[in-house]
Amino acid sequence: MKKFTIGEFSERLGVRPSKIRYWEQVFSEFWAPERSRGGQRRYTEKDAQFVERVLVLSKQMSLAEIKEQLKKEVGMNGGKDAGSLVNGKTILLTGGTGSFGKHFCRLLLDRFQPKAIRIYSRDELKQHEMRQEFGDDRLRYFIGDVRDADRLRRAMEGADYVVHAAALKQVPACEYNPFEAVKTNIHGAQNVIDAAIDAGVEKVVALSTDKAVNPVNLYGATKLCADKLFIQGNAYAGGRRTRFACVRYGNVIASRGSVIPLFLKQRETGVLTVTDPRMTRFWITLDQAVELVLKAFRYMQGGEIFIPKIPSMRIMDLAKAICPECSIKTIGIRPGEKLHEALTGEDEARNTVAYKGMYVVLPNFSWWRRENYHEAEKLPEGFVYTSDKNDQWMTVEQLKEIIARL
Ligand SMILES: NC(=O)c1ccc[n+]([C@@H]2O[C@H](COP(=O)([O-])OP(=O)(O)OC[C@H]3O[C@@H](n4cnc5c(N)ncnc54)[C@H](OP(=O)(O)O)[C@@H]3O)[C@@H](O)[C@H]2O)c1
Repeated sequence: MKKFTIGEFSERLGVRPSKIRYWEQVFSEFWAPERSRGGQRRYTEKDAQFVERVLVLSKQMSLAEIKEQLKKEVGMNGGKDAGSLVNGKTILLTGGTGSFGKHFCRLLLDRFQPKAIRIYSRDELKQHEMRQEFGDDRLRYFIGDVRDADRLRRAMEGADYVVHAAALKQVPACEYNPFEAVKTNIHGAQNVIDAAIDAGVEKVVALSTDKAVNPVNLYGATKLCADKLFIQGNAYAGGRRTRFACVRYGNVIASRGSVIPLFLKQRETGVLTVTDPRMTRFWITLDQAVELVLKAFRYMQGGEIFIPKIPSMRIMDLAKAICPECSIKTIGIRPGEKLHEALTGEDEARNTVAYKGMYVVLPNFSWWRRENYHEAEKLPEGFVYTSDKNDQWMTVEQLKEIIARL
């Protein structure tokens, strides 16, 4: 990617260097050009697009009005302030080479100006492929295991935010290798918490799953432990500034090892295998998952679990959408599998509120005040959010559209 010095950039855009520096200061919540190791500014095409936009707006608007306008433009799907949150920040992303991690990087680099995103994961090949695919030097690559506390500490130095996505997440793999799941998902979480506190990270968001609610398999149980560790991390941080929150969501559409790739493969044989025809699941897109994480960073005080309002899907509708002419073979529910998933548990209801298009489970700390949640709507006692009692459902037609886009 071509990079310009301030002189080249100024000449190219016909804007004086002093004005460019002034705008950088005034619009710092939206715009943070990269710096070389020596501290000189290095401008890219994206910076040029930003300055060109400000040039156009400055002909009709005051600085304050431009800021308001930029807030609207930079926000994701109307989620205001996301840009101002990450621009100029260094983010450490564990599991950065996974489905979520890559999508997170893609969206942030395309839409915002983070200073750097540090990818933290084990496999050098995945990192190499990602480096080739992205070709963006705001991405930095750290080989490391979340089980390795020292390495995590080093990787977190100077980070402002942490997104913790690394996990062992295949249900059967966790059932058959239980200690490995404990080491990665629980000890790894503890290491992330300790390193973040020691490095003075401002905010940490950890990714959780519907399988952590009333878990029936080890994957869900380890994620439940991790959630509890992250929530308690806020107390553990004591007077230090680090704050922790979780996001919890259901199956990601077409993620690795999920049912869509399986059905697409089975379509060739004319037979789709279904564990139980009554089964329902929550479905979320990767865009929505990234947006949820950004919203968590935006609204968290520390200690919350953020849950998106997302649709459910009936497994038989998915089968119809992928191959209406295929026959269905019922193979019986697998160990560790539920008929329906839940995103909130019954006991969580009294601490759960509806807020900004999400459900938020608030923590039970005696010292915790609902500062950011005055406008939040309280939920009725006994409220549960399960995939079979959802009020939003994906139709066969919608499922067909999604599959056609994959
Ligand atoms: N996909 C879903 O449907 C879904 C639904 C709800 C919640 N979630 C949660 O979302 C998160 C991300 O899921 P995903 O779908 O992106 O998973 P994924 O595609 O399997 O990616 C997992 C990532 O974690 C890294 N990783 C695994 N073990 C590690 C370790 N010990 N140390 C460091 N890095 C490690 C992997 O890279 P290396 O192998 O190279 O280390 C990879 O980058 C997980 O926490 C998962 O529980 C996923």
